[in-house]
Amino acid sequence: MRNIFLFALAAVSLAWAADARADSSCVTCHESAVGVPYLEHNLADWKKSPHAKAAITCEACHGGDAAKTEKAAAHAGMLPSTDPKSRVYFTRIPETCGACHAAEAAAFRKSRHSAELKSSGRGPNCVTCHGSMANHVLAPRELEMTCTLCHRRPTQAYATLLSLETAGQAIGRLSKKLDRASASGVDVKTQQESLARAKADYRGAVVDWHTFKMDAVLKASQEAAKQANTASRDLELKEKLHD
Ligand code: HEC
Ligand code: HEC
Ligand code: HEC
Ligand code: HEC
Ligand code: HEC
Repeated sequence: MRNIFLFALAAVSLAWAADARADSSCVTCHESAVGVPYLEHNLADWKKSPHAKAAITCEACHGGDAAKTEKAAAHAGMLPSTDPKSRVYFTRIPETCGACHAAEAAAFRKSRHSAELKSSGRGPNCVTCHGSMANHVLAPRELEMTCTLCHRRPTQAYATLLSLETAGQAIGRLSKKLDRASASGVDVKTQQESLARAKADYRGAVVDWHTFKMDAVLKASQEAAKQANTASRDLELKEKLHD
């Protein structure tokens, strides 16, 4: 049953991606532009990215006119990433991504990283961590390695991201338990409230991540996990009494 469901989902997203391709001359032409290695590389990266799955095509980041099929017309207004006026010039990337990822970009603007990016160019931008197609897996270990590109001392990134993951899992477990307990007639009002609070703390921590105030993020994620775990234990007790 589950497999059938997943298969249906995959079919739907494939259909979306196919539509996006047909709509964007950038994708259609670059797909057939062979013999230009760096172009093929980028197309392959894009295909594997969450953006391809969400039908976000090349022009969303690069500009240009995806309705034109002729190269010069399609490229009009598009600038290479080395041009300071380009939407993908390294200091302008947060603004370009922020058009769609407003919460992350707003948090990032408050960070020392953003200030350094603007003043000295030494701060990271969105693609330093996510890759230009945002297809990097941000596992805790890999992330710590990204931080040590610029920081000699450990940055707490590993512990913080792990703590976020743990909180997300605790929330998932509580959510499942709540469904089960309320189906069997247990009063779950208090635990439902705990779930809402834990979710809000977790969401806040995820967004605050991009301020890189690691202490605050760590604290909020630990708080979220604690709330969810306590509520889970309370529910188990209630279910036992109910039986
Ligand atoms: C008709 C084919 C065609 C279309 C349509 C097309 N491109 Fe290209 N593009 C190319 C080729 C070929 C190159 C390799 C460099 C060259 O020949 O100009 C290229 C180069 C590029 C580059 C690298 C530019 C550089 O200066 O290094 C980018 C980025 C790019 N295209 C993005 C886009 C975007 C975004 C669109 C849609 C708005 C698009 N392309 C539409 C064929 C196309
Ligand atoms: C989510 C944003 C995003 C999308 C979508 C995207 N790109 Fe890019 N692309 C970038 C960024 C940012 C760079 C700048 C180089 C870097 O930082 O890696 C770049 C660099 C490039 C380059 C190297 C030339 C240059 O100007 O640096 C090419 C070629 C390219 N992209 C083609 C494409 C094509 C073709 C697509 C669609 C299949 C696409 N990109 C989709 C963000 C994007
Ligand atoms: C035109 C809108 C748009 C632009 C521009 C854009 N994105 Fe996205 N991005 C999306 C959508 C839609 C998704 C898939 C749904 C989601 O997870 O939010 C996505 C997904 C992502 C994800 C995966 C999120 C997850 O939960 O797995 C990351 C990371 C990301 N984008 C980073 C970037 C970066 C970095 C840039 C700039 C280089 C960028 N995006 C530019 C719309 C955009
Ligand atoms: C120094 C590294 C770093 C930089 C710079 C960075 N990010 Fe992230 N980003 C991460 C990590 C790590 C996560 C995963 C946090 C988590 O568990 O949700 C993340 C998560 C995300 C997500 C998914 C959030 C979600 O709801 O799960 C998006 C979208 C995103 N970043 C976009 C951006 C954008 C846009 C920028 C630039 C304004 C940016 N990031 C800059 C490391 C970075
Ligand atoms: C491209 C280089 C670069 C990368 C990658 C990078 N940083 Fe930074 N970071 C800087 C610079 C530059 C500063 C400002 C000078 C300093 O404090 O060393 C800074 C400052 C900081 C600060 C101090 C912030 C404050 O408010 O005072 C923290 C915390 C931090 N980074 C965490 C991280 C974490 C965590 C990662 C990985 C997810 C990371 N950095 C990745 C360049 C980088």
